[in-house]
Amino acid sequence: AHVWRGVIEEYRDRLPFGGDDPVVTLGEGGTPLVRAHALSERTSCEVFVKVEGCNPTGSFKDRGMTSAISRAKGLGARAVICASTGNTSASAAAYATAAGMACGVLVPEGKIALGKLSQAIAHGATLLQVDGNFDDCLTLARKLAEAYPVELVNSVNPYRIEGQKTGAFEVVDVLGDAPDVHCLPVGNAGNITAYWKGYTEYTTSSPQPGPATRTPRMWGFQAAGAAPIVLGHPVDAPDTLATAIRIGNPASWEQAVAARDDSGGLVASVTDEEILAAHRLLSSEDGVFVEPASAAGVAGLLKRHAAGDLDPGLRVVVTVTGHGLKDPQWALRAADGEEVSPVRVPVDAMTAAAALGLEG
Ligand code: F0G
Repeated sequence: AHVWRGVIEEYRDRLPFGGDDPVVTLGEGGTPLVRAHALSERTSCEVFVKVEGCNPTGSFKDRGMTSAISRAKGLGARAVICASTGNTSASAAAYATAAGMACGVLVPEGKIALGKLSQAIAHGATLLQVDGNFDDCLTLARKLAEAYPVELVNSVNPYRIEGQKTGAFEVVDVLGDAPDVHCLPVGNAGNITAYWKGYTEYTTSSPQPGPATRTPRMWGFQAAGAAPIVLGHPVDAPDTLATAIRIGNPASWEQAVAARDDSGGLVASVTDEEILAAHRLLSSEDGVFVEPASAAGVAGLLKRHAAGDLDPGLRVVVTVTGHGLKDPQWALRAADGEEVSPVRVPVDAMTAAAALGLEG
């Protein structure tokens, strides 16, 4: 049987690592590409979700963190630092620990999902809550990495992008070719940059031949309250319940615009209401539980369909970036806003059956 070895070993010939370079892995990648029946039916397309919540720390960040931390180890670094809305810090903390390095994490005030915060603490990171938003945290992290002996592991580190591009490789490996459209949420814009790099490098025309004959249109979606790329200018006070993508001035802005334009794609926005509706649909009809930011790609796809801007019959992949357990509070309310809680019953089969609506 084939044992998955993590993305560096699986795709070593396409990554900047030599045979003697150290590899720090937790077995990331190899995540399920799930056929989303309900989404397919609603959109008259063939829709798959790439379930990145199945990575070791529960988000796609692990793909880029194995390569960034491996590189840092190769350089002899003893400490790493990152700014984060939560997932990057959880991943950096875990991989730094596996590498025997210290990890410093800068998070914006409030608005960090509890699951993510717990991970960074559990893995022993030093957590600083900065009086500012994510963009302020990233500016500060960059300054520290310039002036002190600490490696920056945000996606401005090119090794992060290298690792994350393996998501595109895996999609092509499963489907046999690139899809027509690839949807994903956009925050700091590292992931859309990475997927586009992966898809282009995996075509037969790339320097090293790959199995894909074409590239997809890249459709990126930002939350309406944090949509600088859509608006064409930075947003000073970004706001959305999808805290992972609460970012007003993405570091990879230009690369995201290039991915959009070179692929014939788009970057559009979705409201928090649309995000929550997509979040609910995905969990209650397709059986996939994601965090709110991850539902932005699904919300965008549904919005395009509703607007009549989605041709039927297309093959679509949506990267759902983080696990629902990271930020589970949003699942506890029904569509009408009513809080859902368990029905209390005694240890009695007839009462339990009645409460379950079972008929004898
Ligand atoms: N989805 C989730 C769950 C995320 O955590 C992020 C980014 C994104 C989407 C957006 O990806 O930044 O590459 O465009 N989270 C970063 C963090 C900012 O700090 O964890 P992006």
